[in-house]
Amino acid sequence: MAAARHIVVLHGPNLNLLGTREPEIYGTTTLAEINQVLTARAEASGATVECLQSNSEGELIDHIQAARGKAHAIVINPGAYTHTSVAIADALRGVGLPAIEVHLSNLQKREPYRRRSYTAAACVGTIAGFGPRSYYLALDAALDLLEGQ
Ligand code: DQA
Repeated sequence: MAAARHIVVLHGPNLNLLGTREPEIYGTTTLAEINQVLTARAEASGATVECLQSNSEGELIDHIQAARGKAHAIVINPGAYTHTSVAIADALRGVGLPAIEVHLSNLQKREPYRRRSYTAAACVGTIAGFGPRSYYLALDAALDLLEGQ
């Protein structure tokens, strides 16, 4: 594997629109800015991250499968697939890597259909509601988990 600790960060559908997408819910930080911070924070901890975004369920599953063999953990914001995708949950279980689910918004405060996550049960835990900080906290959690292994 490339580094002592390598984390794959996956962003699901519509997260490429961050910065301009419903800013009252998701804020104005862009995905590129989030990825920059993640890269710098990983580097400062002697780790590496690979940040990938896809609007397609199949491509996200391909990225999860490809993480096996190159990454030690996955941080994933499945976007709306959180609430629908048995296939992404199966992929996460299938590769057996520790995964942390991330959401910018607090799903429990939103529409009832967002309160159910199919993918959360395939993850070690979920961090939601802290805006871009949800990602940074998830990266810290992943590094901490790996430290303890
Ligand atoms: C989201 C929450 C989802 O319900 C929504 O479909 C998203 C973003 C979040 O980060 O808060 O696309 O995952």
